[in-house]
Amino acid sequence: MLKKIITNNYEETIKIGYEIGLKLKGGDTIILDGDLGAGKTTFTKGIGKALGIERVINSPTFTIVKAYSGTEYKLYHMDLYRLDGVGEDFDLEEYFTNDSICIVEWPYQAFDVIPNKHMKITIKRIDDNMREIIIDSNNYYDELVGDLNV
Ligand SMILES: Nc1ncnc2c1ncn2[C@@H]1O[C@H](COP(=O)(O)OP(=O)(O)OP(=O)(O)O)[C@@H](O)[C@H]1O
Ligand SMILES: [Mg+2]
Repeated sequence: MLKKIITNNYEETIKIGYEIGLKLKGGDTIILDGDLGAGKTTFTKGIGKALGIERVINSPTFTIVKAYSGTEYKLYHMDLYRLDGVGEDFDLEEYFTNDSICIVEWPYQAFDVIPNKHMKITIKRIDDNMREIIIDSNNYYDELVGDLNV
């Protein structure tokens, strides 16, 4: 199932992340596609809010993975943009567990370790303040996307 939503500002993108975050469960994975500055990290802030994470979620660009504790689940926020420099001993696999939720920016560098059961969200910059958010439930998340309050 594909769902397309237009947001007109930063707060609206956070709200979409929030609504999706409310429906996520342990073991769920979201890959975030979109250019630099599209709004992937902004969207993740909304997810964090829904999971009860109080720390500010910022871009993990220089750390590859940041871990956060929510009320029920752990959130791993990954940015694989610079994965190339990290070396082969970096075990991404171990983050995709049944009690964690993984959000992956720039997923294509390590696509082979990302669970097939993922939802893909693409964020396209339309102009300075407008974004198109395309949610592809990839069959596994049809129910979640169908129930979304957006
Ligand atoms: N409708 C909107 N939704 C999201 N962000 C918006 C919107 N309008 C403007 N912005 C701005 O776009 C920027 C999005 O930055 P963000 O860090 O979320 O992008 P990103 O996709 O994670 O980039 P990167 O690939 O560098 O990590 C912010 O500066 C935000 O204020
Ligand atoms: Mg980012």
